[in-house]
Amino acid sequence: MAVAIIGGTGLTRLDHLEITHREVVHTPYGEPSGPITHGILHGREVLFLARHGYGHTIPPHRVNYRANLWALQHLGVERLFAVAAVGGIHEAMYPGRVGFPDQVIDYTWDRKHTFFEDDLTHVTHIDFTYPYDDAMRQLLMAAAREVDLDAVEGGTYGATQGPRLETAAEIRRMKRDGCDVVGMTGMPEAALARELGIGYASCTVVANWAAGLDPAPITMEEIERHLNTGMENVRQLFGALIPK
Ligand code: HPA
Repeated sequence: MAVAIIGGTGLTRLDHLEITHREVVHTPYGEPSGPITHGILHGREVLFLARHGYGHTIPPHRVNYRANLWALQHLGVERLFAVAAVGGIHEAMYPGRVGFPDQVIDYTWDRKHTFFEDDLTHVTHIDFTYPYDDAMRQLLMAAAREVDLDAVEGGTYGATQGPRLETAAEIRRMKRDGCDVVGMTGMPEAALARELGIGYASCTVVANWAAGLDPAPITMEEIERHLNTGMENVRQLFGALIPK
């Protein structure tokens, strides 16, 4: 069963991945974020794709989520682990902390968010009650325990449109809605995976306190600093996860 990892901001490559080759895939939905990297991680074949492109040039609202998911499925991927930088809303979600959300609220708009719109023989509604694959979340949680990573198990991911960060009032509203973290790429990625029948789980890394929760302004330097630490933990986590 082919496994893939989509890396977000701060994770454009995986350490210890012995790259065998890169494969360009053209899709009916346009071009993916880049060629798909094939490699071996701890003896297992893993595919990798940098969501924002290998040079980190594609902003969240311009990522061709449909092409990325279609390309991975075309190459036989059945399980996809997504890594994403987020802002922390819940007090437990402090900068640098890793989490495995179990719910999503989608605030994005104007994104190509479904495969089921043209040339349909019947209207299709996927069940999205539980947006993440629970068995894959269990694997992530077990791997975190194995490497002694104090990660947060569960929580609600609020997906915003970006690329701007949120206002303080937007974050207050998201908190009232029950969001624990905020990010810009979790949707429609998770829903498109479900539409294709690909198992999908998310691993978030908190880059900053969400808008208005800390008196200091949010800077790119702060985001980078916390992501450096957080992504190092994520690399270790995948080291423990992949041999399973
Ligand atoms: N908001 C949305 N997305 C993010 C943030 C944030 O504060 N930090 C990292 N990704």
